[in-house]
Amino acid sequence: MQKNTPPAELKPQPASLHQEQDVSLHSLNLKNKRILLIIGGGIAAYKCLNLIRRLRECGALVRPVMTKAAQEFITPLSVSAIANDKVFTELFNRDDEHDIGHIRLSREADLIVVAPATADLMAKMAQGHANDLASTVLLATNKPVLIAPAMNPQMWSHPATQRNIKTLHSDGIHFIGPNAGEMAESGEAGYGRMAEPMEIVGSIGNLLVPDNTPKPLAGKRAIVTSGPTHEPIDPVRYIANRSSGKQGHAIAHALAQAGAEVILVSGPVDIPAPQNCEVIHIQTAREMQKAVETALPADIAVMVAAVADWRSVDEADEKMKKDNGKGPSSLKLTENPDILKGLGHHKKRPALLVGFAAETENLEKHAKAKLKSKNADWIIANDVSPEGGVMGGDKNTVKRLSNSGIEDWPEMDKSGVAQKLVDEIIKHFIIETVDI
Ligand code: CTP
Repeated sequence: MQKNTPPAELKPQPASLHQEQDVSLHSLNLKNKRILLIIGGGIAAYKCLNLIRRLRECGALVRPVMTKAAQEFITPLSVSAIANDKVFTELFNRDDEHDIGHIRLSREADLIVVAPATADLMAKMAQGHANDLASTVLLATNKPVLIAPAMNPQMWSHPATQRNIKTLHSDGIHFIGPNAGEMAESGEAGYGRMAEPMEIVGSIGNLLVPDNTPKPLAGKRAIVTSGPTHEPIDPVRYIANRSSGKQGHAIAHALAQAGAEVILVSGPVDIPAPQNCEVIHIQTAREMQKAVETALPADIAVMVAAVADWRSVDEADEKMKKDNGKGPSSLKLTENPDILKGLGHHKKRPALLVGFAAETENLEKHAKAKLKSKNADWIIANDVSPEGGVMGGDKNTVKRLSNSGIEDWPEMDKSGVAQKLVDEIIKHFIIETVDI
């Protein structure tokens, strides 16, 4: 059992939230990491100036490539000035090819970052096009690629883009964002805003220096429940919900990565315990409730477990027999404690309480009712009807419900959902500041 002891210098500074964010950013060491930044043609391109500045503050060397469209939004001159390097724009430029060449450009980086990754650039990547410098570099590289998509929400949700996202995921491309919010087009809102520079830097840190990532949740204590509970009927039989524990364990892992002290209360699962978490193994709902309450106080609680709602009134000491010919005996059930609801009304209620809602029909209606009755801050609602393959599978498509409304999150694998949730938790505790 390993516990997380975050370095003191990474602990949040109480003076101001802005300061807190800077502390975690400045502790990220990207010294001499070579980042090839491909700037795509979208309004969010202007944020790349801040991104480059932030990366350089962390010690990274940023070499920019700009698409033709990107140059409609910001100029190579300003990018070059901030990056302190030449900006590459042309595939067929005799000087550039002589100096370095597109193959070397793609190989002489530790990481390629595409920001903003437009729908067009993502389509080119998914299809393997190589008809300009950016797409050629992306096809020729043997290095990890991180993309920060940005586009109109309709373009993001279009089946063609969604198909490309799936392809890119399966090609091993890393994603950061997009975030939900107001678009540049007036009156348009939804998924499509490029992740903020600070979020992109955090994600770059995760990829390049996994052991030295910013710890924005240092000093925060989190309880996570995961997996099913088993409610014994007799020594060989039990009542349980289907749950692999993958989603809960991924959330515990992502919280620990972000520096939180994590207590993971887990039912019986067949997956390894995440590193840097204190794991408490339980079997029944009542044991889970006791472990959760003993772990209080906490700043954050994320209740992911698929708790069995009922248990047998009389657990038999011996194996129950078939009683040949008499047919099955009826099973008397009683309700288990609702752990999330108990926390929601607890005098030591965690500051941020997150529940999940697994539904097979009327997702939003049932999830809304759970948000209210359990007094949670957020409910992450997922459709677990058998055709979705969520139970036991690796993918999850969820919505976040809160008192401010409902957000659809794109389909992601379970670690993607975990990372997104933890990013939202970080945002909840740290107010974002965006400046160039
Ligand atoms: N939960 C809990 N304790 C229970 C039942 C559920 O802590 N006894 C938590 C789950 O971990 C989840 C949320 O409550 O975060 C919703 O769980 P879900 O199974 O979707 O709903 P239930 O409350 O059990 O309601 P129902 O089965 O009627 O949908």
